[in-house]
Order: sequence, then structure tokens, then C-alpha cells
Amino acid sequence: MALIVTENLHKKYFSGLETELHVLRGINLTIEAGQSVAIMGPSGSGKSTLMHLLGFLDTVTEGRYFFDGEDVSHFTEDELASIRNTRVGFVFQQFHLLPRTSAIENVQLPMIYAGVSSAEQVRRATEALEAVGLGDRLDHLPNELSGGQQQRVSIARALVNNPKVLFADEPTGNLDTQSSEEIMEIFMQLNREGKTLIMVTHEPDIAQYCERVIHLRDGVIERDQRRAPRA
Ligand SMILES: Nc1ncnc2c1ncn2[C@@H]1O[C@H](COP(=O)(O)OP(=O)(O)OP(=O)(O)O)[C@@H](O)[C@H]1O
Ligand SMILES: [Mg+2]
Repeated sequence: MALIVTENLHKKYFSGLETELHVLRGINLTIEAGQSVAIMGPSGSGKSTLMHLLGFLDTVTEGRYFFDGEDVSHFTEDELASIRNTRVGFVFQQFHLLPRTSAIENVQLPMIYAGVSSAEQVRRATEALEAVGLGDRLDHLPNELSGGQQQRVSIARALVNNPKVLFADEPTGNLDTQSSEEIMEIFMQLNREGKTLIMVTHEPDIAQYCERVIHLRDGVIERDQRRAPRA
């Protein structure tokens, strides 16, 4: 079943009265539930912009976007915000953890916005951190964790509201080779358990983990390759 369908999706940014930047120029894309997809392409080709539209972080200029069968193209910012917190999870290159805030509290954050009781927050955050191998680091602050460990906290945070999709924008961009492999193993395990994974990367070795690689250029899909996922 298709989780994500876009029809002729466009995104334009407007800065000032005269200037218009036409970033996405007609994206037609279908992503099945449970797929693992890597998005590649030159800097400025629109990868992050596409991920932001698909992840409800930004509004569509033109075209249609169906998520889980629902047309979300005309959702307002408020409507987008309300589905964003529960339907999708985000992982970023820079981790985006709150400083001076423990691992477990960082992971509790999306549940606070979702109105989950505090006992349930602690239970689910602990379980999510254990699932990424950080059961013994619950009370560590971000600056007491390695880059790979910080990224694992951000994966746990992305998962606690049990989203259908994990979006990751260059999740290994700040990590050494070994940490990158560990992070990709976690993503692949989550994907085997049924999470849809959509990630941006500049690294062919990282893209290799996914069963599908989409190449963007100048705001259009230039190539869409499918292969058996790496064992
Ligand atoms: N909020 C914004 N307002 C105006 N222009 C933007 C905005 N976000 C992105 N852009 C522009 O849109 C174009 C595509 O940006 P985007 O971030 O999607 O590229 P990218 O493919 O992710 O690049 P990179 O590999 O460098 O991360 C760029 O020219 C960028 O300057
Ligand atoms: Mg980008």
C-alpha cells in the first residue's frame, strides 16, 4: 500500500516581491509503506526541501501530496504541525538535541507535546533508548555523549510517538565511519521491523543500505533505482 504519493509537486520560495526561487519542479513519487529510500543529488538540488514537504515541515506550493491516503496538500501550518508530531519522526545531521538536558528528557520531549502522561513518557523513553543501545546512558547530557551516541538519542526521540515514517537528513554527515555503520544498522533494523525510512545522503556507501535510491537534479527526479537491500 502506498504511504506517500505526490503528483506534480512544486515548491517555490519567495524572498521579496520580485524574487522567486523555483526549487521543486514537478515531483511525481510513490513510496510504499515499509520501503527504505535514499535521496541523493548535488547540493541545492532540493533534497532537504523535498524531505521537509514530505515530513510536514513546510507547505506545498503546487501539486498534490497524499499521505496514508489523505490529501494533505492544502493543510495549513497548524494542521501540518499537529500531524507532524505523531505521524513522522525526524533525524538531522546536527542531532538537534537540547543542551543541558539529559538523554531521557530529550527523548521525552515529543511525548510532552503529544500529551502523554509523565510515567508513560519515562517508560517509553527508557525503552526507546534501550532499543538503540543507550540503556546505560539515560541521564547523560548531550556533551557527555559521542557523536554516534547523540545521533542514537535523536533516533530514539524520533521513534517515541511510533511514527509511520522516519525521515533522516544526512544522519551520518557528522559521524566517523564506524559510527555511521552503527547508525545505519539501527535504521535497517527499524526498517526490517516495518518502519518506512526516507533519508538524504551524499555518501554512496550509505545510500547502498537502502532498497531504492532516488537522484534529484535541479528540482526534478533524474533517476529512480531499485535493488535488493544489502543483507
Ligand atoms: N527556506 C528557504 N527560503 C528560501 N530559499 C530556500 C529555503 N530553503 C532552501 N532554499 C533554497 O532552495 C534550494 C534547495 O535547497 P535544499 O536545502 O533543498 O538543497 P539540498 O539538495 O538539500 O542541498 P544540500 O545538499 O546542500 O543540503 C537552494 O537554492 C536553497 O538556497
Ligand atoms: Mg540539504
